[in-house]
Amino acid sequence: MNKINVSVLWDFIPYMMKKLPSPGVLLVCGSEETRENVITLGWLQFGVIWNEPVVSILVRPTRYSFELLKFHNEFTINVMPDEYNDVLQFCGSNSGRYIDKFAETRLKKLKSREVKTSSLKDAELTLECKTLYKGGIFPDNLSDLVLAKFYRDGDYHAMIDASISYVKSNLERSLL
Ligand SMILES: Cc1cc2nc3c(=O)[nH]c(=O)nc-3n(C[C@H](O)[C@H](O)[C@H](O)COP(=O)(O)O)c2cc1C
Repeated sequence: MNKINVSVLWDFIPYMMKKLPSPGVLLVCGSEETRENVITLGWLQFGVIWNEPVVSILVRPTRYSFELLKFHNEFTINVMPDEYNDVLQFCGSNSGRYIDKFAETRLKKLKSREVKTSSLKDAELTLECKTLYKGGIFPDNLSDLVLAKFYRDGDYHAMIDASISYVKSNLERSLL
């Protein structure tokens, strides 16, 4: 696995967290060689697991993106400037199963450095990620409160842990 400067990565996290849960961040999944899709995510967490800097995302199996994430073990997470909030809303309420979100929005792809999945050109911050673990939520282990609030329909999130292989940003660190 490629190593990144973790202390630099952590400096960017508070900025990213302010975008969560809304307007969210854009995750690009799939690969340029097959098909890529973009989904808005509002729930994720960071930490160190297996001595790697790791991001954990939650994606419901009903999302088209889940199908791509199941087969491609790479993705990018992109923090967009506020001018893209309408695009975040669009990508969070339309499915790539029926439309090409790149064609329908002003999002432009950029080749990534460590992964086959594209990054987004105007992103303020991009994390290139490699999946280490895919798991699920066990309903029997969930609190009744969470179960009632988020899973009445039984569409339990999948949880994916991925190492962060590369970080790029155009943000002035003094502004963070
Ligand atoms: C602000 C916001 C945050 C969202 N966060 C998540 C999330 O963390 N996980 C998830 O599965 N869906 C989340 N969604 C819903 C998906 O983005 C939405 O269902 C999307 O249309 C799925 O696209 P797809 O079918 O192309 O994958 C969010 C939507 C919005 C607007």
